Amino acid sequence: MIFHYLFAFLFLVLGENFLVDGLGCNWGTRATHPLPGNIVVKLMKDNGFNKVKLFEADPRALQALGRSGIQVMVGIPNDMLAPLAASVSAAEEWVSKNVSYYLSSKGVDIRYVAVGNEPFLKTYNNKFTRTAFPALQNIQAALIKAGLGRDVKATIPLNADVYETDAGVPSGGNFRADIHDLMISIVKFLDNNGAPFTVNIYPFLSLYADPHFPVEYAFFDGTSSPVVDGSITYTNVFDANYDTLVSALEKNGFPSMPIIIGEVGWPTDGDPNAKMEFARRFNQGLLNRISQGQGTPKRPSPPDIYLFSLIDEDAKSIDPGNFERHWGVFYFDGTIKYPLKLSNNRNLTAAKGVRYLARQWCIMAPDANLMDPNLPQNITFACTYADCTSLGYGSSCGGLDARNNASYAFNMYYQTMNQQKGACDQFHGLSIITKIDPSYRGGSCKYEIMIDTGRHEKATNPGTSSAGKMHTTFVFVSFLLALIIFCVS
Ligand SMILES: *[C@@H]1O[C@H](CO)[C@@H](O)[C@H](O)[C@H]1NC(C)=O
Ligand SMILES: *[C@@H]1O[C@H](CO)[C@@H](O)[C@H](O)[C@H]1NC(C)=O
Ligand SMILES: *[C@@H]1O[C@H](CO)[C@@H](O)[C@H](O)[C@H]1NC(C)=O
Ligand SMILES: *[C@@H]1O[C@H](CO)[C@@H](O)[C@H](O)[C@H]1NC(C)=O
Repeated sequence: MIFHYLFAFLFLVLGENFLVDGLGCNWGTRATHPLPGNIVVKLMKDNGFNKVKLFEADPRALQALGRSGIQVMVGIPNDMLAPLAASVSAAEEWVSKNVSYYLSSKGVDIRYVAVGNEPFLKTYNNKFTRTAFPALQNIQAALIKAGLGRDVKATIPLNADVYETDAGVPSGGNFRADIHDLMISIVKFLDNNGAPFTVNIYPFLSLYADPHFPVEYAFFDGTSSPVVDGSITYTNVFDANYDTLVSALEKNGFPSMPIIIGEVGWPTDGDPNAKMEFARRFNQGLLNRISQGQGTPKRPSPPDIYLFSLIDEDAKSIDPGNFERHWGVFYFDGTIKYPLKLSNNRNLTAAKGVRYLARQWCIMAPDANLMDPNLPQNITFACTYADCTSLGYGSSCGGLDARNNASYAFNMYYQTMNQQKGACDQFHGLSIITKIDPSYRGGSCKYEIMIDTGRHEKATNPGTSSAGKMHTTFVFVSFLLALIIFCVS
């Protein structure tokens, strides 16, 4: 009997730990002014992210993650799949330089290698269909040869478009017909190596792609038009999508294959549906489910989830849409976009110690003429080299008048060029520097000032986590308490 209490107590303590610590994020580094690695790592720890996914073996990110206690999934970009598929020794080199080295010399807790990123996406037109699986096999073989076969698992983050359902309900799920056999080979291989299936699920993109998509179905707080699938009622597209994958795996003989959500999130700018209110609602709903230990109808325990994304990236390709540069829970500089409740009722914490360029902006000169024939070309120039995705229709600066619009573009260029001398003089006398913040009053448009990356160069790695130590102490004290209770009774 008393053992029940003991176990219940320990379970509470450890279970709590699982809930507090069980959250991952993606850390993309396609930014003109990347937040320094040590600040990003601190930001993750302050907000309870204990897992991170990187899109490539970025040396600065990996250095900063050394001895941080954060588990790492390190990615391989699609353009490296062909060489890695073609050569076992290239894969061995990759593992040696980008996994073994960081594990043993830098104390980076690498747990997964993500081979490619959504390589079978329909829009890639089979560009990586023949290389992704052989690259996975070569990386796996290299991991085994390096003695890491048990500790580091290789997986392929796939877009949810690798499966589909003819019946329109999750139970009809199966792998996409054109890659069905390939998918079965990959799943079998992952299963043989004890590796998980990794999938990216984006309710935002469902909404973006289909103007008739029922908005409420994208979120976790109920809908008037649920999807009924036999005895199961689906109230949100995330559950339905995930369970479509579970059905596809079941149908092909892998009912208990572990699944990781490699990316899930909601952007805040660059599209009318990419707004703060929706992003907060989606991400808060997702976090609540994680801290309540809630899974989907077919898989009741929650999967490992990597939020997309931690911070905005102003140099990301906008082929998919202007929203691509605005997926962060935080802005590019680690400031908070909207409130979120983390587990333990904690609020988000902003990045600390960020250094900025001087408080000055480049704007359209008050005496410059809006009819100046140079203006359109000069705005286009500014927006070619700087990020103007917030100026689009339905975006945070989409409501500016022509003058403020030009100012926004000039300023983005000026900041992106590190406020260099002359950067604001390039626009044929149409622009001037001001020390008065031009941020649009009453609106959501922010005229940014960039991070002073030069002043951050000497940043050093943070020490070991005091939170980690405190937790160990907490578990130990709890265990002693439980023992005392046991002895007394
Ligand atoms: C390690 O990864 C980086 C970043 O993707 C890449 O540039 C480099 O070529 C890799 N090293 C080897 C030996 O493959
Ligand atoms: C979190 O923020 C809210 C306001 O958004 C505040 O009322 C609350 O006290 C904060 N909670 C903690 C634990 O700081
Ligand atoms: C601004 O426009 C003028 C006239 O089209 C052009 O000569 C000049 O190069 C432009 N400046 C930039 C930075 O594009
Ligand atoms: C603002 O600038 C953007 C980017 O050049 C352009 O697409 C948009 O039409 C402009 N809007 C106004 C009101 O001038």
